[in-house]
Amino acid sequence: MNGQELFSEERSAAVVAASFQGTRDERLRQVMTSLVRHVHAFVKDVELTEAEWGKAIAFLTATGQQCDGVRQEFILLSDILGVSMLVETMNHRTGGTSTESTVLGPFHMVESPPRELGANIALDGKGAPCLITGQVSGPDGEPLAGAQVDVWQANEDGFYDVQQPGIQPERNLRGLFTTDAGGGFWFRSIVPRYYPIPADGPVGELLAATGRHPYRPAHVHFIVTAAGYRPVTTHVFVAGDPYIDSDAVFGVKDSLIREFPVVDAPARAAEVGLPNPFRTVHFDVTLLREEQAPLAAQPAEVQPIPVPGALA
Ligand code: BEZ
Ligand code: FE
Repeated sequence: MNGQELFSEERSAAVVAASFQGTRDERLRQVMTSLVRHVHAFVKDVELTEAEWGKAIAFLTATGQQCDGVRQEFILLSDILGVSMLVETMNHRTGGTSTESTVLGPFHMVESPPRELGANIALDGKGAPCLITGQVSGPDGEPLAGAQVDVWQANEDGFYDVQQPGIQPERNLRGLFTTDAGGGFWFRSIVPRYYPIPADGPVGELLAATGRHPYRPAHVHFIVTAAGYRPVTTHVFVAGDPYIDSDAVFGVKDSLIREFPVVDAPARAAEVGLPNPFRTVHFDVTLLREEQAPLAAQPAEVQPIPVPGALA
């Protein structure tokens, strides 16, 4: 028999995977075959009912309907399932030799305005003043002069400027800085607050149905680029935040958490142009060279994840 093997419950994945055998693009064939294998295994694992399958289709349909030029509910779904962080982490393995990456998020939707080093990005002056400093260097510690440091953050109430047009000034708490001769950057801002991811759509409903909260711990976003080096998209997180151990999108990495201590030093405050006392954080960024070989895959999880209700 030359035709397709007929469908059966036992052989379902093999039958469907075989239908992709003629795919000319080898990578597409590999991806589709693996996808089918895992989806079929999942459906069998949970003994999916027709009603649940219908609910899943309705959920994915609503997720698509929630998407427009600004809102991307599918990325949000990927975020709360940890898929965004997994893809990000696998594609930016550092082996501890450079700054770790984390999710980009949906709020880098406007370009950060170029600003001079030392500028105050808190355009409305609201919030706890904070001095943010750091140095960009390469893998051997070489300082990277002329690197671009793109930053954006939420305000003291946990909102980005784009979420509060008419309330916050445009481009509030955003800036694009260029490092000095020693690779250094510094600017004035405020301490951000934790905030909920957009939770008024299907992803929010899923979080509620599963007893999960929608909050992200307070952070400042960074994209750091330098000619000849691999860019990094990352955050610095505020140590002690109530959600530091339960980020709704799994974006926290230990190496990215910093204290934001209070500095009580009138002379230093006057020097940097902040009221005394003020908060401060120092965040150094190390980039890999462009030609450095990507690190190999980490060993896959060996411990099976317990699934309630699954047959032993
Ligand atoms: C953010 O940090 O801006 C973000 C990341 C993922 C989902 C929602 C927001
Ligand atoms: Fe954010």
